[in-house]
Amino acid sequence: MKFFIDTASLAQIKEANELGILDGVTTNPSLMAKEGIKGKDAVFNHYKTICEMVNGDVSAEVTTVTFNEMIEEGKKLRAIHPNIVVKIPMIKDGVKAIRWLTEHDIPVNCTLCFSAGQAILAAKAGAKYISPFIGRIDDSGWDGVQLIEQIVKIYKVQGFKTKVLAASIRNPNHIVQCAEAGADVCTCPLEPILGLLKHPLTDIGLAKFMEDAKKSA
Ligand code: E4P
Repeated sequence: MKFFIDTASLAQIKEANELGILDGVTTNPSLMAKEGIKGKDAVFNHYKTICEMVNGDVSAEVTTVTFNEMIEEGKKLRAIHPNIVVKIPMIKDGVKAIRWLTEHDIPVNCTLCFSAGQAILAAKAGAKYISPFIGRIDDSGWDGVQLIEQIVKIYKVQGFKTKVLAASIRNPNHIVQCAEAGADVCTCPLEPILGLLKHPLTDIGLAKFMEDAKKSA
């Protein structure tokens, strides 16, 4: 399973990248706003900086909702850097835009997926990635990981090439469950990634080894 970081924070991207486990980045308009990135030029420059920092796909989301606008924006986003993947929402015009962009060799990450039916449509349209938002599904009382399992199964049975990119990850256990469910990628903030490191027995064991090491120093 690939690890993407879900942030527009350059400091967090740098920290995850330095761990040596980072395969890509996803962003969205809310994450860009959180970093105070304002105006088209600033947004485009920010994407360029991220692409130069990380060796892997970087998802950049359109901020329009009609077919013509999305394909125009998609073309401009893709022109920033060859690693840009255009993020398109799962709406009717979005499905058309996924098809058009894919046919013009512009890879697409279909975002805001909350059902297996939406995942089937995205795959039929040719998306490179489908992003089911598992945390938001859990937040609304459903089971996000179960949706990942269902989509992984459908894609396998049907031979779809679209990669399952588990998004809206809230904690380290989500990452483990997505790995178990067969997700191709999980995208998460830095905290759940660092959370994977933690185990009290590791800390206790290390303290003891360090203490005993002094005895034979
Ligand atoms: C996916 O690409 C989205 O950017 C993201 O995972 C949404 O996560 P959230 O539900 O924590 O906002």
